[in-house]
Amino acid sequence: MRKPRVEFTISAAGPAQFPRDGLPEVAFLGRSNVGKSSLLNALAGVSNLARVSSQPGRTRLVNFFRVDDDLYLADLPGYGYAAVSHETRGEWEKLVTSYLVDRGPLALCVFLVDARHEPMEADRVLHRFLGQQGLPFVVAATKADKLKRGALAQRLRALQAAFGAGAEAVMAVSAETKQGVPELWHAVREAASQARTA
Ligand code: GTP
Ligand code: MG
Repeated sequence: MRKPRVEFTISAAGPAQFPRDGLPEVAFLGRSNVGKSSLLNALAGVSNLARVSSQPGRTRLVNFFRVDDDLYLADLPGYGYAAVSHETRGEWEKLVTSYLVDRGPLALCVFLVDARHEPMEADRVLHRFLGQQGLPFVVAATKADKLKRGALAQRLRALQAAFGAGAEAVMAVSAETKQGVPELWHAVREAASQARTA
């Protein structure tokens, strides 16, 4: 398969700056530090396309990447970083909620949860919200390389129980080993091509 050309488009502070050319879009959502930018880089096959943060909780922008002339990948700001102020948290909610409610081209959400950890309340809130909005989503259990095979299988069962409802798939991924990356890429492509023909 030909390697896709992935280009950074814009860091958008709000809807006025979101792309308007109508290409289908796939959003990456999850708590701060869960591995959104790393997974995006792994999908694109490059190491520093989306900046991998050393200071979690800093991104307040939606970063858009265009894949060929086919689709956008949108890296949404992470939630749940303890050190951010109440005010910042409110801004995060406004930005992400308005994105999820209003974003016409949104074809698929990739909901990232750390394979190693129990979900946090904010993950459950997001899962419920995706369901209420009827948004198609896949659950990506990140950093799968950090678990042994048996432990990973056990965590995947727990995540399936917690977040499988409404999900198109629950998959283990690793930006390190690229486990699950081809499968996720396939789901992304599939959702985008369905959106184009819909
Ligand atoms: P925010 O932008 O702050 O919301 O974080 P993020 O969700 O984009 O996470 P990011 O990709 O910046 O990764 C956070 C940390 O986890 C970095 O130190 C990464 O190197 C590490 N990390 C991400 N994915 C993996 C993975 O698959 N395996 C391992 N071992 N580490 C990972
Ligand atoms: Mg990031």
